[in-house]
Amino acid sequence: MKDTDDRLIFEKSSPGRRTGQLPPPDPKMPIETLIPGKFLRETEPRLPEVSELEVVRHYVRLSQKTFSIDTNFYPLGSCTMKYNPKINEKVAALPGFAQIHPHQPPEQAQGVLEVMHELQRYLAEIAGMDAVTLQPAAGAQGELTGILMIKAYLHDRKQSDRVQVLIPDSAHGTNPATCALAGFKVVSVKSDPRGAIDLADLRAKLSDKTAAMMVTNPSTLGLFEEQIARITDLVHQAGGQMYLDGANMNAIQAVARPGDFGIDVMHFNLHKTFSTPHGGGGPGAGPVACKRHLEPFLPIPRIAREGQRFALDGNHPRSIGRVKSFFGNVGMHVRCYAYIRAHGAAGLRANAENAVLNANYLMARLKKHFKVHVDRPCMHEFVLNGSPFRKLGVHTLDVAKRLLDYGFHPPTIYFPLIVPECLMIEPTESESRETLDAFADALIRILDEAKRDPKILLEAPHTMPVRRVNEVKASREPIVRWTGNA
Ligand SMILES: Cc1ncc(COP(=O)(O)O)c(C=O)c1O
Repeated sequence: MKDTDDRLIFEKSSPGRRTGQLPPPDPKMPIETLIPGKFLRETEPRLPEVSELEVVRHYVRLSQKTFSIDTNFYPLGSCTMKYNPKINEKVAALPGFAQIHPHQPPEQAQGVLEVMHELQRYLAEIAGMDAVTLQPAAGAQGELTGILMIKAYLHDRKQSDRVQVLIPDSAHGTNPATCALAGFKVVSVKSDPRGAIDLADLRAKLSDKTAAMMVTNPSTLGLFEEQIARITDLVHQAGGQMYLDGANMNAIQAVARPGDFGIDVMHFNLHKTFSTPHGGGGPGAGPVACKRHLEPFLPIPRIAREGQRFALDGNHPRSIGRVKSFFGNVGMHVRCYAYIRAHGAAGLRANAENAVLNANYLMARLKKHFKVHVDRPCMHEFVLNGSPFRKLGVHTLDVAKRLLDYGFHPPTIYFPLIVPECLMIEPTESESRETLDAFADALIRILDEAKRDPKILLEAPHTMPVRRVNEVKASREPIVRWTGNA
């Protein structure tokens, strides 16, 4: 029988119930001899008292209430929720990686430093760049690192009056946020009707105030920026630097190299492109790759190879400094390394090609029924315009909630902001044709439901442990702490 006891673990607590027995304290060794008195608690911790079996059932049951990439199709556009091969977990759990301490001296950490050094080389090769730092802990932090490097570079060249960063209107919100945080002024560049950067608008906005342009390629509309070489030329001619938001590298890894199409600095989202886990807020990794002229500004410490040994090198006076405690999320670096080694160059290329093929297959199936925002071949993702649903009295949010009843995690919705009521679908390379068909069938059936009886969508989800919640109330009056027997 399935455990359906929905109480919190605190409510299941029963005094004296234990998971294991600790030996009684040794009277010859009072606790104060082990822990200084000032650190000892004065009151007992308020922990639930439950048996091991209760703990296991409680958390396994909770884990089964949610969606995960291991249990459900998860086509979250722009977020690339790709399958994480289990071999990566095994490699990251090897004691030499899992039990190492960041304060251990480099002579005792040669293996992990070698892996990080090698990974930097691989990422530089994939990016077509000269140097890499693994330090940033997420894509957004990678962006900030790269933009601060551009700022330091311009300062070094006495060009600090270049204060503007150009960003296409389809960009992810972290791009303008990054620039504002780094002290730049954001200048928005329009998209043209084909979803590409509008070159006339770009030309009009370039000036001697331009510090850089940030582009996402493939863009957040799932389209390859066909004029990218022209765009980088224009920005360079105006004296600006080109930054690439590499969140969508899954579509072009081992096919096209940003360094070859004129990018000066970029970040990777390891958790999107190289299968390190993504979700729940991390831990992620956002390595930054750059061309030679920006290398002096990379964060320190850098990993240096000295003959057969690896060392941490902090002697780079023009560096922007440290951006993350220790060396970044090293467990993610190990997983990424395992993924790249397991696939090799041909495997990475096949992944990119299959990601693009899967997205185009799904788009072709859906475009007979839905409005595709830009109807041309897509890269790894595509955007549906959900505004026709409005006529039926339903919104994209209702479609997303109804998909849960069909066993699918909804795609990204309401992003990019320039597409009304949008659904942004990214199937990734790992999914089978059967899964893609089942997802397309579900969406088509939901469209039919919306025409016949919109209430089905408006009241969805019907089968989930939690029904439709009042999101406004949840954010205005959050209850984040259990106060049951306080
Ligand atoms: C295009 C794009 N840029 C940047 C980011 C930020 O990356 P992260 O979530 O790793 O900070 C995302 C995240 O979804 C993204 O899709």
